[in-house]
Amino acid sequence: MKTVIITGAGTGIGAAAARLLGTSGWNVVLVGRRRDLLEAVAKEISSKAGKPLVLAEDLADPGAPKRIVEATLSTFGSLDALVNNAATIKVMPIEDYSLDVIDLHWAVNIRAPFLLTQAAVPHMRKSGGAIVNISSSSGTILRPGQSLYGMTKAALEYLTRSLAGELASAKIRVNALALGPVDTPIHQTWASDLEAAYKWLAEQVPLQRIARPDEIARWIELMVSSDSAWMTGACIPLDGGQALDIT
Ligand SMILES: NC(=O)c1ccc[n+]([C@@H]2O[C@H](COP(=O)([O-])OP(=O)(O)OC[C@H]3O[C@@H](n4cnc5c(N)ncnc54)[C@H](OP(=O)(O)O)[C@@H]3O)[C@@H](O)[C@H]2O)c1
Repeated sequence: MKTVIITGAGTGIGAAAARLLGTSGWNVVLVGRRRDLLEAVAKEISSKAGKPLVLAEDLADPGAPKRIVEATLSTFGSLDALVNNAATIKVMPIEDYSLDVIDLHWAVNIRAPFLLTQAAVPHMRKSGGAIVNISSSSGTILRPGQSLYGMTKAALEYLTRSLAGELASAKIRVNALALGPVDTPIHQTWASDLEAAYKWLAEQVPLQRIARPDEIARWIELMVSSDSAWMTGACIPLDGGQALDIT
């Protein structure tokens, strides 16, 4: 069986991807800070398929990526795919950002995917592998208050293309999905009125709605599977047309 690490797997898109992959023949490693949420997703998976590995780790800790890869190898013996999905977001005017908030975005949204990739690559070199970075339309389009988050997603897309080139000779593929709005708990971190926020978000999307996490999970499954063996270095907009920015 192939093994995949999914960060941010206790909620939203990461949980949907873990459920799908965990019940489609993959060993799944679930990473996040809140153990109870990870355990709940793991329980759902193990009621239908194999037992996932739950790792409660804070990705802001630079030691976490190495521990995650080591625990994966000692439990499942191999590593075939990495989904860098966890992220943090604070929406505010540039004058309001503290150094702590800036450092947290760097640590979780950029440094952790970088260090996880660094720790994973030597083990993926044996059999090739797939890395999927979860980006955002905010890495391309411009919205007030999203300078920091958008900057980290633009950097993640650069990292995707850069590593796709660097790792192609090792048959390791690196791709990204640039998501538009999806119905997940992330919006509770910045929206005081969720209903109004969802309406505002849907208005920015040419297809005029917000996606479901399971719609995104299917693309993650495709990108880690051999069905996408010919694709590397791609940053695919999966956003109902949001990045067309026609509003
Ligand atoms: N939903 C959208 O509209 C949307 C749009 C564009 C892009 N995205 C991207 O989609 C990805 C998944 O987000 P989501 O929408 O599914 O939101 P979510 O449900 O809030 O998921 C974010 C996950 O990241 C984990 N996380 C955050 N900080 C962490 C840390 N320091 N260490 C370990 N884990 C951490 C959280 O778990 P813990 O809090 O338990 O650690 C949580 O499970 C993110 O990369 C996000 O930028 C989402």
